Amino acid sequence: MSKRVAILFSGSGSNMVALIDSMTGDHPARPVVAVCNNADAGGLAKAEARGVPTEGIDHRPFKGDRAAFESVLNETLARHAPDIICFAGFMRIFTDTFISHWQGRMINIHPSLLPKYRGLNTHARALEAGEAEAGCTVHEVTLELDDGPILGQARVPVLPGDTPQTLAARVLEQEHILYPAVLRRFAAGDRTPIRLP
Ligand code: GAR
Repeated sequence: MSKRVAILFSGSGSNMVALIDSMTGDHPARPVVAVCNNADAGGLAKAEARGVPTEGIDHRPFKGDRAAFESVLNETLARHAPDIICFAGFMRIFTDTFISHWQGRMINIHPSLLPKYRGLNTHARALEAGEAEAGCTVHEVTLELDDGPILGQARVPVLPGDTPQTLAARVLEQEHILYPAVLRRFAAGDRTPIRLP
């Protein structure tokens, strides 16, 4: 039986689209819902155009009450009964209660070569530090932010004249290759890390 995948995102959803588009043919998983916390995000229409059910849960009315937001998110996810939750640029921090509930089933993509540059503004910080290479990481989600066992990494060179924007664009291309490759393995029960290129 196919694994059921929920994808959570906040922004343009390009990783969400790459994941949805990868789950065809003999892939061991299928997308069952795309969830966004920003109703204005263009990504919801992209998921709908691909025939994937969508749910918008605006976090703003919860005014910082994480537990209340998560309770609605939990009910929403439970209705779609996912085996795997993919965070694809979902820019909310979770309580330990939420993480503990879904632990072992959640994976996340982060735009740095973890353990370097957890948190925000990863590309600017990598450039500031004079790194020769940058990249992205897919990892299991655990209680520590941007931590958890690494399931895959893709590296790109930092080029002369790079700005955070040009570097982000180069890394994003790799995210769209790495994340589907990791999801495919993870859904098949294989947690062996993938290294790209
Ligand atoms: C991606 O670069 C992803 O790695 C990053 O947000 C972007 C979302 O882009 N995630 C984080 O920074 C998580 N801390 P997308 O909406 O086009 O997939």
